[in-house]
Amino acid sequence: MSSPLLSLGPFQGITDAPFRNVFKRHFGGIDKFYTPFFTGIHKEDHAKNLQGEEIDPKCNNVETLTPQILSTDAEEILRFAKQCQQLGYKEINLNMGCPFPRVANKKRGCGLLPYPDKVEAMLERVFEQIDIKFSIKCRLGYFSPEEIDAIIPIFNKFPLSELIIHPRIGKQLYKGEADIERFKALIPLINAPLVYNGDIFSVESFGRICKVVQPVEQFMLGRGLLANPFLAEQISDTRGMSLQDEPVGTHRMRPQIHDKTDRLHNYVLDLYEDRLRHAGGSPKVLGRMKELWSYLMNSFEEPQVVWRRIKKINALKEYEDAVESIFKEIAIK
Ligand SMILES: Cc1cc2nc3c(=O)[nH]c(=O)nc-3n(C[C@H](O)[C@H](O)[C@H](O)COP(=O)(O)O)c2cc1C
Repeated sequence: MSSPLLSLGPFQGITDAPFRNVFKRHFGGIDKFYTPFFTGIHKEDHAKNLQGEEIDPKCNNVETLTPQILSTDAEEILRFAKQCQQLGYKEINLNMGCPFPRVANKKRGCGLLPYPDKVEAMLERVFEQIDIKFSIKCRLGYFSPEEIDAIIPIFNKFPLSELIIHPRIGKQLYKGEADIERFKALIPLINAPLVYNGDIFSVESFGRICKVVQPVEQFMLGRGLLANPFLAEQISDTRGMSLQDEPVGTHRMRPQIHDKTDRLHNYVLDLYEDRLRHAGGSPKVLGRMKELWSYLMNSFEEPQVVWRRIKKINALKEYEDAVESIFKEIAIK
């Protein structure tokens, strides 16, 4: 296998523009990013929610960022596509994977998967007019993993730029394990370039999944990368080592890791300072930082000790002290 293409999945409330930019300053290995989903694109031009830094090309790289929409309304998807295209983006992604009941019960996100006729009508209309690459991120189903069987022939009718599959059903949320064997069985049935997403938590789990799903070469990382921001670099390095005669991509050329603790610490400080600057010093940044720490705690030898120090915090000074104490007192893995 040549070097795999690695992307970072979107996380509402965590992987916003400040996160993506700070992450890129500190870590390598990720080739492509996605915005957390947008909704409510009511206007033909300059929709209000497409005016902020989350999508502003001055704050984002339009070549490597794909904006995502959560919608079942073809006209809204087309409005979104047009405005993203005007901003310079090359691709949009449709979220057909969100499992949260208040979304899925309205037949949005993965809640659309039990309704192939609706999916077909929506895509027919979208592809009549769309003039930008269009990809989909989905699960195996909402209620049952068989739902995707009726959806794949519909996806195959359209020139999707990629299909990202997280092999769980919506009702599971994130419980149980990603069904890698079921993903494998779908590979020969799908026309679009396929991206695997789910439960890549370590170099070892990546290697195991890779073996099962070959020849798939595109992988979306998620919670594993939030927990261990070195993960994409580590995966790229091991792949690079096994490919002796292939040049390593320029984005993978970086200084040796001398001190992981310092790198992690600088990343966390930079992200906090950046968020604080954006929020004009408001303590509301603590919500997003805590959300990240609920994953990042797993980079430390004693995750529960880390989490106990972070979860109860509600003032900036308390947060700053807790972070200093964590990096001073608790070893990273
Ligand atoms: C809090 C949270 C927010 C998420 N937000 C989004 C989102 O906006 N769009 C999306 O496509 N997926 C979203 N996801 C799903 C992740 O991108 C990813 O598909 C999922 O975590 C499975 O991958 P993993 O097992 O590697 O974590 C979210 C997941 C979580 C836990």
